[in-house]
Amino acid sequence: MDDTNAGSAGQTGATGIALLSRLVLIGPPGSGKGTQGQVLAKELGIPHVATGDLIREIVEAGGEDAERFKAIMATGVFVPDEDVVAIVDKRLSKPDAARGYLLDGFPRSLEQARLFAATRAGATLQAAIALEIPVELLVERLSGRLTCLGCGASYHEKYRPPVKKTGVCDNCGGALVRRVDDEPVAIRQRLQTYDEKTRPLIEFYEDQECLSRIDASGTPADVHDRLQALLGVTNDK
Ligand code: AP5
Ligand code: MG
Repeated sequence: MDDTNAGSAGQTGATGIALLSRLVLIGPPGSGKGTQGQVLAKELGIPHVATGDLIREIVEAGGEDAERFKAIMATGVFVPDEDVVAIVDKRLSKPDAARGYLLDGFPRSLEQARLFAATRAGATLQAAIALEIPVELLVERLSGRLTCLGCGASYHEKYRPPVKKTGVCDNCGGALVRRVDDEPVAIRQRLQTYDEKTRPLIEFYEDQECLSRIDASGTPADVHDRLQALLGVTNDK
């Protein structure tokens, strides 16, 4: 673990861990990893690397792994570790990730965390941020989510509807659709998989002294403010 610029990243609710640029967001389905990750990465000038989005792109492209990944995702269980680690490795080797990365949805098991730590990018991870939220809020968030087919932006029927036109993305004009794994059975499976496989990562990163926790309830703006305070990001950055 590289602690260059690590500041007070190990302290819960600490402020001012400025200049961090190799970050991981950990949180259950619906905790806001995508919503917050997209905005924060832009502010930090680093790519938002979401494994769910990368796997969905592979499915859309229809290559040799497409059908296999599609079937796995629809049920809410994990794509095999070797596949995901290879996907992340490839993405982080692109030039835009040279300055850093904001990972969303990876690592999401102890095995993935160990495999990632053995890679060049993973060896320099600076902070893991856990988004904490009561489970009852998650189902409502996920069942109302709408995702843009064009740019992947995340909306919500009630909490974050598009402002320009119903069913159309404000950013790119793409169509807003419901994800196949946002059906009740798949949501339950994803929450269960999170508890079994991903939650232990919080202790793992706590032991590595690079974990911070954020209250992810409240409005997207509230959560964003907490993340900005934690990371020392200002709006005019
Ligand atoms: P992935 O796409 O990563 O899904 P997930 O982890 O289940 O998380 P979500 O994207 O559903 O939630 P989010 O936290 O991003 O919430 P969002 O911001 O959208 O992974 C999908 C699948 O891919 C996995 O099940 C697995 O099969 C596979 N996969 C991915 N990574 C893998 C890996 N590493 N290993 C193996 N397999 C992998 O917000 C949700 C909704 O709430 C939105 O509608 C949003 O507008 C709304 N919302 C957000 N914040 C707020 C707020 N503060 N108040 C009100 N509403 C809010
Ligand atoms: Mg997401």
